[in-house]
Amino acid sequence: MSQPAPHGRIFSRIAGTGSFLPEKVLTNDDLSKMVETSDEWIRSRTGIQERRIVVDGETTADLGHAAAVRAMEAAGVTAADIDMIVVGTTTPDLIFPSTACLIQARLGVERCAALDVNAACSGFLYALSVADKFIRCGDVRTVLVIGAETLSRIVDWTERTTCVLFGDGAGAVVLKADTETGVLSTHLHADGSKKDLLWNPVGISCGFKADEANFGAKITMKGNDVFKYAVKALDAVVDQALEANGLDKHELDWLIPHQANLRIIEATAKRLDMSMEQVVVTVDKHGNTSAASVPLALDAAVRDGRIQRGQLLLLEAFGGGFTWGSALLRY
Ligand code: COA
Repeated sequence: MSQPAPHGRIFSRIAGTGSFLPEKVLTNDDLSKMVETSDEWIRSRTGIQERRIVVDGETTADLGHAAAVRAMEAAGVTAADIDMIVVGTTTPDLIFPSTACLIQARLGVERCAALDVNAACSGFLYALSVADKFIRCGDVRTVLVIGAETLSRIVDWTERTTCVLFGDGAGAVVLKADTETGVLSTHLHADGSKKDLLWNPVGISCGFKADEANFGAKITMKGNDVFKYAVKALDAVVDQALEANGLDKHELDWLIPHQANLRIIEATAKRLDMSMEQVVVTVDKHGNTSAASVPLALDAAVRDGRIQRGQLLLLEAFGGGFTWGSALLRY
């Protein structure tokens, strides 16, 4: 169960979770009519069966806002309680203002800090870490942390090696200051030297321009190299989280991994000696929703009653950059 803080110390705790998925479902069979692929190939290599995709006019801020409303309801907080909004996203609505500012306006939150964090698929863990530190240092008390993405906007739908992997969605948590332990640790890492293994070369000041027919749709990846690096990096970061907290892997109740590939998830579960019954898996229904994947999985398992108050959760993610990280928390 949660432990009382040493005298005077402040911790951050998850007060509520929420998520939102676009209505439109894209199945593996749908994809096999668009590119040379098959349901069998996608399922066996990735574990993905279907993913949700936004329709014209539906944006990252729409998804993030809907997830935030649900998280606020679950936490029992109103717009007046929110001191800060941090959004992990690599597919913002606009160059500026940030998606966090767009969501702030829709929620009617006045005078809070609002910012986006771009750490690709690790975006939610980076955002959670920022929020945790602002709370612990006493600057703010209630933070809305959101992971929201519309990866379908930057996927090349003629490229079978990438287009089968990604989906759209959003997840959110309300993180609140508390005298009882919640977030025990976060560990963040990056290796920019591996940029070319997973990136989108279309940008603002780099000179690589999108062609008109394919605006921004350029996710480029060396899947096999990413796979190998991700497994090693995640092994190291889950070990680091346990060691930093003096915990044994058998004390963990749940693993909530980034949902990129079932085989990567299984490798991390094996490292932790956890049965797949203790791992929240949504990759089959969501695909890789980048920064949204961890909070989407967390919310799914909180709402269906698998995750209970007081349990020990390990969250991890890996993404473009490369970036990766973990959060160990008492729910
Ligand atoms: N349908 C059918 N065949 C496909 C395909 C598809 N959608 N995509 C690739 N192939 C083919 C390749 O062309 C290749 O054919 P070849 O042997 O004739 O050259 C073959 O399948 C094997 O390709 P490979 O890339 O070696 O497959 P893989 O087993 O490594 O699986 C990934 C590919 C992308 C599923 C896997 O590497 C992966 O998941 N990597 C990590 C990606 C990731 O997590 N990215 C996000 C991080 S946040």
